Amino acid sequence: NSVRVRIPASTANLGPGFDTLGMALSLYAWIEMKAADQTTFHLYGDEMKGIPVDKSNLIYQVAQSVFKEAGVAIPELEISMYSDIPLTRGLGSSASAIVGALVAANELIGARLTSSKLFDMATALEKHPDNVGASLFGGIIAASWDGEHADYIRIEPSSDLGVLVAIPDFQLSTSKARDVLPEQVSLTDAVYNISRSSLLTAAFAAGRLDLISAAMRDRIHQPYRASLIPGMSRILNEASDHGALGAALSGAGPTLLALIDKRAGMGQELEEFLLRTLNEHGITAK
Ligand code: HSE
Repeated sequence: NSVRVRIPASTANLGPGFDTLGMALSLYAWIEMKAADQTTFHLYGDEMKGIPVDKSNLIYQVAQSVFKEAGVAIPELEISMYSDIPLTRGLGSSASAIVGALVAANELIGARLTSSKLFDMATALEKHPDNVGASLFGGIIAASWDGEHADYIRIEPSSDLGVLVAIPDFQLSTSKARDVLPEQVSLTDAVYNISRSSLLTAAFAAGRLDLISAAMRDRIHQPYRASLIPGMSRILNEASDHGALGAALSGAGPTLLALIDKRAGMGQELEEFLLRTLNEHGITAK
């Protein structure tokens, strides 16, 4: 009895929706899990280097938390993982590992835990619901978390909505990208973000791609993170001149995300602009 799950990468925040909005991407990790006599790991792919292959492994630990919650014991596991999601680039690689482990372990025991319970467990591990929500439910997720329970709505993205990402070839840890944030923001900036985040969520739900460029602006995290990602400010300011509906830092970065209207067919020029701008700031990206 072996279980295999495919989990999408994700982009968090989408500009104004800090720790709130997430979207699944067509970039994946796979986890296979079965009960075994002895715990073993098979990790495939360039992104798996340096990941522990003993019981301190995150996937093993998360699986055990599912078994404990469900009141069953499967102490030894054979775990295989393959991932195309680059690590520490703002594409939700840790969220995808957590969600994959939760879903695979839960399937192994006949889906005894609800997906809402899995979402709460995943959010408790990540401390924000945006990446894990998108990885678990797919599509676009608007979520809130009270420290124990996460509520969410899943929005099916418009079929005209396309995504481009430029992935710099340096790593940036989420903790480093959170350390530069202020502890308090002004009421003006809070209102600036709440209004745009609300408008962006409603625009996604209504398929109003024309509202995205006005809605995808942020004052509470990206301005502070700009110093960590050379070229980012220029990309956020100018991406719309090159065919983007809007641009944002993907999660905590350093990946940059641009949304496009697939009907407009300007992806090529935009891609060149993203890579060239990063290059001009000394950053190689793909
Ligand atoms: N919302 C999180 C952040 C996502 O921006 O820090 C990164 O894990």
